[in-house]
Amino acid sequence: MSKLTAAITAVGSYVPKFVMTNKMLEDLVETNDEWITSRTGIKERRILKEDEGEGTSYLAIKAANDLIQKRNIKPEEIDLVMVATATPDSMVASTAAFVASEIGASNAFAYDLLAACSSFLFGMSTASSYIESGRYKKVLLIGADKMSSIINYKDRTTCIIFGDGAGAVLFEPNNEGLGLQDEYLRADGSGRKYLGMEAGGSILPATHETVDAGQHYIFQDGKSVFKFAVSNMADVAEKIMLRNNLKNTDVSWLVPHQANKRIIDATANRMGLDSSKVLMNIQRYGNTTSATLPLLLADYEEKLKKGDNLVFAAFGGGFTWGSIYLKWAY
Ligand code: UT7
Repeated sequence: MSKLTAAITAVGSYVPKFVMTNKMLEDLVETNDEWITSRTGIKERRILKEDEGEGTSYLAIKAANDLIQKRNIKPEEIDLVMVATATPDSMVASTAAFVASEIGASNAFAYDLLAACSSFLFGMSTASSYIESGRYKKVLLIGADKMSSIINYKDRTTCIIFGDGAGAVLFEPNNEGLGLQDEYLRADGSGRKYLGMEAGGSILPATHETVDAGQHYIFQDGKSVFKFAVSNMADVAEKIMLRNNLKNTDVSWLVPHQANKRIIDATANRMGLDSSKVLMNIQRYGNTTSATLPLLLADYEEKLKKGDNLVFAAFGGGFTWGSIYLKWAY
């Protein structure tokens, strides 16, 4: 009997309607379209403004419902709902629990997974392990972030990069050997001084002073993060290829975290991949943190073929990073 593997069997997505262009940012901070485009590859991003009071769960529910409708499954069949996110609806109460209830996944348990821009990648590992164990048959993994909720639109080092969005995938058992093949996941806590949020957590709870000082917004030392991201994302992608005897011609698609086009290009170069094999939508959505990978799958779903070799790679705050090799299953 062949080994039970965990395959992605459906995808769904949602991005907010409001489009914030580089031109619009020129009115908020000292920047310009040419600088943003040449340094990052980003032309526009989506911002959640549909209704007041809507958080990350709003995006996650839309993406999950898109998947449920496309795949035509009953929500009650879902065993587990995981929301990978850096911007949960609120502290303490699990965003995933709310999402599960709202989509009708009444038989599921649910929790959030938080590893900054690597949340979804790490979630793929977790979801697959549950399936491979044989204990669960349908695991819904959602990557969703309302990054605009933690962005200072006066800080040009962050506001040009991030956007809001959500994507969802369903993991199910596979007995044809398709799905997740290998993973190489890493973390280095010394990186938290370069990218994070100073206040609002247990070290520095929010006060009038922290809010006045803008410490509830995301900060980054872009140059340092860039250096770590470029070398580490390329390293892990190369490592996963070597470990699995994958030549560049064996890789059908690179599915890279969308943080900066220059980081993506460097990773593809190291892998010896032509740009035609690199999934990319950073120009339209910017960096949606936990949503970048599933949004790519949703955008390119029509092009992916059964048996295609996909190499995922991501890098994020913490630092956290890694690569996953997965065979597409439909
Ligand atoms: O998802 C994982 C987390 N994040 C990342 O992976 C992001 C990694 N970092 C980056 O993508 C890049 O470092 C940035 C896009 C954030 C910045 O690009 P850079 O090429 O590293 O620019 P820089 O910080 O070295 O700045 C170059 C110049 C500076 O001016 P001077 O000192 O050369 O006169 C900056 O002040 O560009 C200036 N600058 C800007 N100019 C126009 C910085 N931000 C902007 C801006 N518009 N938005």
